[in-house]
Amino acid sequence: MNIILLGPPGAGKGTQAKILEDNRGMKQLSTGDMLRAEIAAETPLGIKVKGLMDAGSLVPDEVVVEMISNRIEQPDCAKGFILDGFPRTVVQAETLDKMLAAKNKKLGSVIQLVVDEDALLARIEKRAAESATVRADDNAEALKKRLAVYREQTAPIIPYYEAKGMLKKVDGMAAVNVVTDQIDKILG
Ligand code: AP5
Repeated sequence: MNIILLGPPGAGKGTQAKILEDNRGMKQLSTGDMLRAEIAAETPLGIKVKGLMDAGSLVPDEVVVEMISNRIEQPDCAKGFILDGFPRTVVQAETLDKMLAAKNKKLGSVIQLVVDEDALLARIEKRAAESATVRADDNAEALKKRLAVYREQTAPIIPYYEAKGMLKKVDGMAAVNVVTDQIDKILG
């Protein structure tokens, strides 16, 4: 099964994607992780996107579309993939539909982690405090920008998937294991 995990920064997309990967053998495809790997390796792409990511802005649609298009064809996605952080704009969502149709693949659920924005700074600060490598965008200023970008550019994909009857909402403020239970119920 192929699914999308949707939600603002710190909603728990990566946390739940990793649990699904461990429990179900589905592959987590995090565009954020892929881009951070490009930055760490100082590739031309990494050098191009670093400033945008550090500031909390989105990278151009075509960059992430190409990454995902290449990635979903790999053998490790055979048991299904979890899109974590993609799509993030209506253009990306529309392109994903066309890409999947062309590759004869289907999307199951689009799972929205519904969270209280006021709790997200504390989550991000906790992650920064606990990580060996602190993300350049895990600070109050960049988070403010990331949340604004989410509201303006990503939230419009919620009605897009609602109109297709694919959107499922879970309470992302619940404990991690309770969120996992809610997702398990949706996936069956
Ligand atoms: P990306 O890496 O995707 O970051 P994000 O969406 O901002 O999400 P985060 O990784 O911060 O949060 P998360 O929801 O995964 O939460 P997590 O599970 O880690 O994107 C970064 C940047 O890359 C973008 O700003 C953009 O520049 C670029 N980019 C990426 N994709 C793009 C695209 N498609 N198009 C254009 N640009 C793109 O949890 C956070 C913390 O909360 C952790 O400490 C965790 O332990 C804790 N936590 C999780 N769940 C719970 C819970 N239920 N209760 C309590 N704590 C919890």
